Formats: sequence, C-alpha cells, structure tokens
Amino acid sequence: MSSGRQLRGTKIKSVGYHIPEKILTNEDFEKIVDTSDEWIVERTGIRERHIARDDEAASDISYEASVKALKKAGVKAEELDQIIVGTATSDMIFPSTACLLQDRLGAKNAAAYDLTAACSGFIFGVTIADAFISSGKADKILVVGVEILSRITDYTDRSTCVLFGDGAGAVVLESCPPEEGILSTFIKTDGRYSDLLYLPGGGSRSPLTAESIEEGEQYLKMKGSELFKYAVKAMSQAAKETLSSAGLSSEDVDFLIPHQANIRIIEGVRRMLKLKKEQVVINIDRMGNTSTASIPIALGELEEQDEEVIKKGDIVLLVAFGGGLTWGAVLFRK
Ligand code: ACO
Repeated sequence: MSSGRQLRGTKIKSVGYHIPEKILTNEDFEKIVDTSDEWIVERTGIRERHIARDDEAASDISYEASVKALKKAGVKAEELDQIIVGTATSDMIFPSTACLLQDRLGAKNAAAYDLTAACSGFIFGVTIADAFISSGKADKILVVGVEILSRITDYTDRSTCVLFGDGAGAVVLESCPPEEGILSTFIKTDGRYSDLLYLPGGGSRSPLTAESIEEGEQYLKMKGSELFKYAVKAMSQAAKETLSSAGLSSEDVDFLIPHQANIRIIEGVRRMLKLKKEQVVINIDRMGNTSTASIPIALGELEEQDEEVIKKGDIVLLVAFGGGLTWGAVLFRK
C-alpha cells in the first residue's frame, strides 16, 4: 500500500527519545554465552545495547520520550487527537500501552491505541497518523515506537540475545502545507513468513503455563539468516515505492535512516540505493536492535547534535523491516 500527497500535508514537528541507563557490552555477553566481541561486531555491527531496569515498562520509557517530544513541539498533551504506540512488548496485553501513556500524559482528548508490526511499528504508526492528518480527520498525533525486548529475550541463546536493546522514540505529527513534510509512505506485509520471527507464548494460542515457560515460550524465536534474505530486498522495495510515489529517485535522497537490525543489512540497502556512506544514519553500534524504536531514536539523536545535520529542505527516507513479515518507508522533506 503506498500513498502520495492529498489535501494537506503532515510534518514531523518534533522528536524525543529515551534510552535506559544500563549498558550491556559485547564483553558482558562473552561471560554469559559462547560468543566473542569479534563475532558480534563483524556479523551485526553491535558493540553495546541499553537494557531497561526491572521496574521500567514500555509505558514508562514511552512517557519519557513523549514528554520530550511534546515539549520540543510546544504542544500540550490535551491538544493531541491520537496517541499511536508501535510495540511488541506492551506493559500488558490490555489495556494498551497507549492507554496507559494517555493517562500519564494527561492527553484526555486523544484516542489511544497500540499497533503491532514488530520492527516496522513506527513506520506503520506514522503512515496511519499521516492518513488521519492529511485527510483532515486529526490535527495532532503522537506516534511512539517503544520496545523492552530484554523481557522477551532468552539470555542463554547466543543467536538472539546479543542483538537486542531497549528504548523509546516519540514524534509529534501535525498538519502543514501539502508540499512540505511527509511526501509519501509505503507499508507492506507478508504473513506467509510469520514463523521467521515470533513470540509463541502468552497469547490465546499458547497461554503461559509452568510447562510452556519450561519450554521457553516466553522468549522470541528468530530464524535470523532466513530473515536476512528478505530484509535487504524488502527495505529496498519500500524505499523505491515510496520514492516513486513522490516522483523522486534515490538520487534525491539526502539522508537514509534505516531500521537498525544489522550493519550488513543497512549496507546492503545503501548499496541498492546507491547512497554514500555519510548519507546513512547508523547507531546500531551503541543501541543494538531496538525494533520499532530504532528509527525515532536515530532521528532524535541527529536532532540533538550541536551542528544541524538535516537542514531545512533536505529529503529524508525512513525504512523499516521486521517480523510478520512487515516492511515500509516514510519519505519526508525537512
Ligand atoms: N556468537 C558466536 N557465534 C554465533 C552467534 C554468536 N552470538 N550467534 C550465532 N552464531 C553462530 C551460529 O551458531 C552458526 O554457527 P554454525 O555455522 O556452526 O552453525 C554461525 O554463527 C552462523 O550463524 P547464522 O545465523 O547463519 O549467522 P548470520 O551471519 O546469519 O548472522 C544474524 C545472524 C546476526 C541474526 C543475522 O542473520 C541477522 O541479522 N538476521 C536478520 C535479523 C532481522 O532482520 N530481524 C528482523 C528485524 S528484528 C525485529 O523485527 C524485532
């Protein structure tokens, strides 16, 4: 599904993010599983990742990110029409993390809901928010990408535990003239490959019991090398569809902010799009894979740098790929 511009535009007014303080380094993993800093850096690009405290849930770190985004935007929580939270690690199955966040923020006029699209959740959320805002059905929407993957990670499985980190990113979206802001969006799903990345336990198929916990069903399962094959192709497709909907090509792109799952996937997408290394935003070395939070965190970090990196008028491409399979992209003009 792709969309070009309609009645009015949607812009990302501000970004906020929150990263838990605790850091797990590759050296820490060398002590708990059979791995090495060399393998992890070479195969993934990851050197360290942040892990939430035991008392921190998705709504807590979403709150920190959201308060920063609202403050930067100069928008009061009561002005929000919607809160959309992309997450696969919500505080509980229901009520949604968005409901808990709405209460904490005092966003009493906002309809609030979660969406699950794994690592693509933030892109799906921005796409939905853009549809509401550009059609005039909403004026201000908060979109959050948050994950506490450490809660569903098996720290005895070396093939997954070294990959993931925790974090939250939030953006405030609001209306703007149609030629500004988001130029096009694209989202896509292929449910035939849902078994490549999934969390078996805790849902209606397999509620958690002493036996299922013994089997490790509370932990995510991933067929990493099979996912890898789809990732570069899907992300490149999303990028090209989004560019073509906006009547642009990859030559027009100033910055690519890809989902941070693996440095080799990012490099593959960069090569497919023929972009220079300095055009691609990378923080996987410090964050690991924070799933749906990775793109807004990267965007937020860029905005915080002393020197303005993304300048007014620059074309920025956000591209994600994740479990489901799900993938998508958002193209915007700063
Ligand atoms: N340390 C040392 N060796 C390891 C480790 C580790 N941490 N993990 C796996 N290995 C070993 C394997 O056991 C295997 O050994 P063998 O050849 O003796 O059997 C060997 O390394 C190669 O394993 P592969 O899984 O083939 O390694 P690969 O190069 O594919 O890298 C990785 C694995 C990093 C998971 C990669 O496949 C990947 O990034 N996949 C995509 C992940 C992705 O995009 N996920 C979707 C988004 S995430 C989301 O939605 C939450």
